[in-house]
Amino acid sequence: FGIGVRSLAQRARAWRKFQRVVRNFREAIFMMPDAASLKISPGVFLWRGCLDRAAQDELIAEVAARTEHAPFYRPRMPRSGKPFSVEETNFGSHGWFSDESGYRYEAMHPLTKLPWPDIPVSLVTLWHAVGAYEAAPECCLVNFYRDGARMGLHQDRDEAALDAPVVSVSLGDSALFRIGGVSRRDRTTSVTLHSGDVIVFGGESRLAYHGIDRVMAGTSPLIAGGGRINLTLRRVTDPSEK
Ligand code: SIN
Ligand code: FE2
Repeated sequence: FGIGVRSLAQRARAWRKFQRVVRNFREAIFMMPDAASLKISPGVFLWRGCLDRAAQDELIAEVAARTEHAPFYRPRMPRSGKPFSVEETNFGSHGWFSDESGYRYEAMHPLTKLPWPDIPVSLVTLWHAVGAYEAAPECCLVNFYRDGARMGLHQDRDEAALDAPVVSVSLGDSALFRIGGVSRRDRTTSVTLHSGDVIVFGGESRLAYHGIDRVMAGTSPLIAGGGRINLTLRRVTDPSEK
């Protein structure tokens, strides 16, 4: 029982809005603070060292406080039920979830059956600073990579608000991130993401295939016991349909 089932008319409206935003996105993203972003490909921007060590420590503490109430679990692949190698949890009103029944957004943690914790204020601020979007994020997906965990190439496409970019924060061990185009067969670009880096993808790259090929163990002291945490911020519902 995922939330956010939408009519065809709503989908068509969202798609037209998405097309408009694709045209505006390249201008909007240059409002990013100090314009220190690196353009990886059209609509994909990397802001190296966006968070300094103090900000990273603070964020890790905020994540740790919330995962006490919303513990990490292992999602499962649609149909096959094969467990992900990545462990996940969520913050915000909408939590991204996957099991045998498919990909969807859920309002409650699957194990505790409680609402997800709130999104840390610093992340909401970051979203507004780099995201160039009028409404607040509704989902912060937390990915925890350890023991060789990785993430295959996929699209983020379970959201109605495809006009909003995806804002993704890396913490802990460095990782090899790969991003291509909207077709799985498109050429891909690989980039190493370090702790404190922020990547934003939207506009014509909002539906770009992306994944994590590998995490380099022992490259960061940030997380006790090692590993990498990725925080992915997304708008899920279309703010104009509220
Ligand atoms: C994701 O696409 O959900 C995660 C990407 C990352 O870990 O950097
Ligand atoms: Fe993703």
